[in-house]
Amino acid sequence: MKQRTPAYIFIPLTLLTIVLAFTMVTPVDVVPEEGFRGMVNNLVVHLSHVLKQGIVWAVLAISLVMLMIINALNKVVESHNFKKLSAEEQSEYLEESKIGYFKRLISSSYKQQTAEEEEAMILDHGFDGITELDNSLPQWWLSLFYFGVVFCITYILSYSFTSFAHSDAEYEEEMAYLDEKFDAWSKANDIDITGAINKANDPAVVADGKKLFDQNCTQCHLDGGRGGIGPNLTDGYWVNHEEDSLFKNIYHIIYDGSPKNPQMRAFGQRKELSGLAIEKIAAYVYHINQAEAELSKDDGAAEPQGDLVEDWKRK
Ligand code: HEC
Repeated sequence: MKQRTPAYIFIPLTLLTIVLAFTMVTPVDVVPEEGFRGMVNNLVVHLSHVLKQGIVWAVLAISLVMLMIINALNKVVESHNFKKLSAEEQSEYLEESKIGYFKRLISSSYKQQTAEEEEAMILDHGFDGITELDNSLPQWWLSLFYFGVVFCITYILSYSFTSFAHSDAEYEEEMAYLDEKFDAWSKANDIDITGAINKANDPAVVADGKKLFDQNCTQCHLDGGRGGIGPNLTDGYWVNHEEDSLFKNIYHIIYDGSPKNPQMRAFGQRKELSGLAIEKIAAYVYHINQAEAELSKDDGAAEPQGDLVEDWKRK
C-alpha cells in the first residue's frame, strides 16, 4: 500500500496554487520593469494586490476547510485499507511511514520492484517477448496533470467568453493606462513662458536643472555656465534682453532660441526639451547668475558679451 501525501505538503501547495492563479488574473496598474529585479518587484506588487482582496481570502478559507475534509477522508480510507493488509505488510507500512516525506520521495525514485512485484504487475498482453508493466503514476505527476486539465479548460472558456485573461483586453487596458500616464506627464510638462515659475530657491529644482544643463548646454556654455561658444551666463551682460524679468528672459531664450545667432537653438520649439525641463534649467541658470559667484576671465570664463542690464545685476 502506498503512503499518503502528508497534509503539510499538499495543503500549502494547493493554497499556493490558488494564490498564483489569482495572481495571474489580477490586473495591476504597473508596467513591469526589466531584468531580474524588475521581475521580483513585479511579483511582489502583484502578490500584495492579490492579498488585499477579500475574495482571495474567502476562497483560501473555503479551500482550507475542504482540504482538511479531504485529508480526514484520506485518513479514513487509509485505515480502512490498512486493516485489509497482512500483519507483515502492516508492520512494513508502519515502518515506512516513520521515514520523512522528502526522504521517502527521493528514495522512491531509486527503488525498483522485486521480481514478484513485477510479475504481479505485468499486463496480459505482449509481443515478441515484450511485455508491459502496469506501473501506477506518481501522485505529484497526476496532480500536475489534473491541474493542467482544469487550467486549460478555465483558460479556454475565459479567453473565449470573457475579457478575463484576454490579451486584447489586457492590451487595451495597458494602453489606456499608458495614455493616462502620458497625459499626466504632458500636462505636468506643458509649461509655457506665461506659466513658468522661477523656482531658483528650491535646491531640488536647481539640482535637476544642473543635471539637464550639463547634458544639453555645457558643450557651448561650458560647466558652471562660464561661457565658450555661447556667452558667460554668470555675468551681468546680456546679448538678448527681451523680457522684463531675468528668469523669463532666460526661459524665452531657451524655449525660442536666439534670433541673432542660430547656434543657440530653440530647445522648446524643437521639442528637444519639455516646458517643465526648461523651467528647471532656467531656474539653474538664474541661480548661477544671481546666487553664485560671478566667473571672470581669471576663472577661465568668457569675456562679457552684450549690454550690462542694470535691473538684473546681482543684488
Ligand atoms: C550649440 C551651442 C549652444 C548650445 C548647445 C546652447 N547654447 Fe545657449 N547660446 C549659444 C550662443 C552662441 C548664444 C549667443 C546667442 C546670441 O548671440 O544671441 C547663446 C545664448 C544663450 C543665452 C542668452 C545669453 C545672452 O547673453 O543673451 C542663454 C540664457 C543660453 N544661451 C542658455 C542656454 C541653455 C540653458 C542651453 C541648454 C539648454 C544652451 N544655451 C545651449 C550657444 C549654445
